[in-house]
Amino acid sequence: MKGIILAGGAGTRLSPLTKVTSKQLLPIYNKPMIYYPLETLMRGGITEILIITAPDRAGDFLRLLGSGRELGAKFTYEIQDKPEGIAQAFIIGENFVGDDSVALILGDNIFEDDFSQAIKGFKTGGHVFAKKVPDPERFGVVKFSSGGIAEQIVEKPKEHVSDYAVTGLYLYDNRVVAIAKNLKPSVRGELEITDVNNVYLQAGELAVSTVSGAWLDAGTFDSLLEANLLIAKREGSAVL
Ligand code: TTP
Repeated sequence: MKGIILAGGAGTRLSPLTKVTSKQLLPIYNKPMIYYPLETLMRGGITEILIITAPDRAGDFLRLLGSGRELGAKFTYEIQDKPEGIAQAFIIGENFVGDDSVALILGDNIFEDDFSQAIKGFKTGGHVFAKKVPDPERFGVVKFSSGGIAEQIVEKPKEHVSDYAVTGLYLYDNRVVAIAKNLKPSVRGELEITDVNNVYLQAGELAVSTVSGAWLDAGTFDSLLEANLLIAKREGSAVL
């Protein structure tokens, strides 16, 4: 399985922090943010990793991460000209993915869980990871049938659907590239990962697991602070 870290985007909610650097390079305690999703992939045994960045930030990522050889990995870099949706990662990464399956992780997502079993045991279809959150309307949300089976993923629902948000780690078989290429942009002009998930779900081929440990998308001032506190505590900071 190959890995993609999607680390583009505008980071407008973190402005002015993101005026001079990329959100995914901001510090989380003692490391740049992107180290955490990178560790999540590498812990699962993924070593061939594509890093997708915004055009004006690619040099910073390259300076930080280089070839990956020091870490026992091989990094490839691509640019996303405009933030036109998470699912665009598979179109940008088509050549990189080749004939393999692929794990996509968002560059601002920090997970405590170890996904190595799911990654190493992945065979076919799609596999997403949901987490109970207090603010599901910010995310893609899992709608369950009365029997508790996932029946639809709803993007940023206005009405309450469930408390289970789809987190920013997604595992797919090779069909995901063709699925992404067939998507139409949503009303907000993005190729939606929720639409990819619904294609797999409707085919009965989407596994939905729950995340038991902490999950943070460090895209707001509060979640950035929370992520810093979580990692500082884990690393035994003398301040906490
Ligand atoms: P978001 O947090 O939704 O977007 P953003 O990072 O641009 O932030 P803001 O809303 O404050 O402007 O994106 C989640 C993650 O996915 C983040 O790591 C950026 C990445 N992303 C891309 O790289 N390209 C895209 O087209 C999108 C939609 C997101």
